[in-house]
Amino acid sequence: MIMKKATLENIDNLTQIAVESRYRWNDNEKDLKKHIISSLKRKGAETYYLLKNNIAVGYIVITIKNKIADIDFMGIKKKYQGKGYGKEIMFAIISQIKKSYNQARLAVWARNFTAISLYNKFGFYVYKIQRNNYPNGDAKLFMKKELK
Ligand SMILES: CC(C)(COP(=O)(O)OP(=O)(O)OC[C@H]1O[C@@H](n2cnc3c(N)ncnc32)[C@H](O)[C@@H]1OP(=O)(O)O)[C@@H](O)C(=O)NCCC(=O)NCCS
Repeated sequence: MIMKKATLENIDNLTQIAVESRYRWNDNEKDLKKHIISSLKRKGAETYYLLKNNIAVGYIVITIKNKIADIDFMGIKKKYQGKGYGKEIMFAIISQIKKSYNQARLAVWARNFTAISLYNKFGFYVYKIQRNNYPNGDAKLFMKKELK
């Protein structure tokens, strides 16, 4: 298992992961690609992808600002979910960012129980709830973890 830093050259692999992880499920492939290109170009943003037997199985995007690392999103291809790759990616990214940054943060749909359970496992806790964040009235949870 290797985690690599992504560049624009990896756009097709990253788009494939986004499509197959069903993240932002209402977006089409073209919009997902545009979204990923803009995060690859964004100042402070870093994207990493996880390779297993040379197949890109998942990716994570973080943005660094004021010593805080925001996890913007992560996704594992559907057929590889539930096999520990989410934990691997999270372990690798936390080990890396804790060397230089004080805090990690993220936001998650309050019904994404798999993701919330993963984040809890790594010590993230809810510090803010934004009610009625989604058109159907669902809330968004803001979670953080001290790294020092
Ligand atoms: C959320 C996601 C990244 C987790 O990655 P994963 O590889 O499936 O998760 P793992 O196999 O590493 O499991 C991590 C933990 O999640 C929880 N989990 C995994 N599958 C689960 C399931 N089907 N139901 C409930 N919890 C589950 C467990 O707590 C698990 O830890 P455990 O194995 O020690 O019990 C992945 O499922 C995914 O890409 N989902 C779609 C995109 C998404 O929701 N991204 C996050 C929001 S930005």
